[in-house]
Amino acid sequence: MSNGLLKGKKGIIFGALNNQSIAWKVAERCHEEGAEFILSNAPIAMRMGEMDALAKSTGSDVMGADATSLEDLEKLFDAAIAKFGKIDFILHSIGMSVNVRKGKHYTDINYDWLQKGWDVSAVSFHKVMRIAYEKDCMNEWGSILALTYIAAQRTFPDYNDMADNKSYLESIARSFGYYFGEKKVRVNTISQSPTVTTAGSGVKGFGGFMGYAEAMSPLGNADANDCANYCVAMFSDLTKKVTMQNLFHDGGFSSSGVTHKVIEKFD
Ligand SMILES: NC(=O)c1ccc[n+]([C@@H]2O[C@H](COP(=O)([O-])OP(=O)(O)OC[C@H]3O[C@@H](n4cnc5c(N)ncnc54)[C@H](O)[C@@H]3O)[C@@H](O)[C@H]2O)c1
Repeated sequence: MSNGLLKGKKGIIFGALNNQSIAWKVAERCHEEGAEFILSNAPIAMRMGEMDALAKSTGSDVMGADATSLEDLEKLFDAAIAKFGKIDFILHSIGMSVNVRKGKHYTDINYDWLQKGWDVSAVSFHKVMRIAYEKDCMNEWGSILALTYIAAQRTFPDYNDMADNKSYLESIARSFGYYFGEKKVRVNTISQSPTVTTAGSGVKGFGGFMGYAEAMSPLGNADANDCANYCVAMFSDLTKKVTMQNLFHDGGFSSSGVTHKVIEKFD
């Protein structure tokens, strides 16, 4: 299904690890809609080699960058500018918590690991935008997106310090969105339903999360393909005046107090 919504648009997509990744689906959809982009991921993720298939199918270059390293990001943006001139869109689809990975309880958090996860999951969004801002490489009416989760607003036990990282990430989108507004560039976060991916499945009790969210969402959970479609819409010229928003993409979960499916389970 192509409507040429992104014809002529150029961008950078961070975070496609394997074909379950949300960023992977976004890259495929952006390609279908006529966009060109560079795929980037942490060097360690690139060594797994799966991205090469995506690069081939979308005709993209792949370039490693640790999103916490300003030096790596500078090199990446210089390469994008050399290839495309100015760019139109950026997807930040990056998340990682060492405390989640190692099963550390929230009340007994390891602060060095917290700092690492915060840098990767939240501050990296500031760093990406900082380099784009300093290099003045975004075209007018460009669009910058990061992915987030509703644990930023509500408590989900076992989402652990990622909840705090997501709150910070969403705040960065608003704060930097102001300054990018002066350049006519929009900055938003998409708050996605729980989705089966490597990062998602790392959260303890993830199956329960998914099932509960499905039952609590009048439209059902949004999957990675649905998310890719929403990202395309947000990168397209159809959403030019949407900025500094946290956009829930969750089948109605965020507005539902309870649903009949859930009531039936307890009645
Ligand atoms: N899966 C879900 O349930 C869900 C729900 C809402 C939001 N999200 C968010 O979507 C985004 C993408 O996650 P996903 O579910 O597709 O999982 P994923 O594991 O496929 O993607 C996470 C990506 O982050 C990359 N990454 C980690 N450290 C990095 C670093 N230092 N520099 C650059 N990249 C780094 C990984 O290599 C990987 O590609 C994350 O921000 C995640 O929190 C996921």
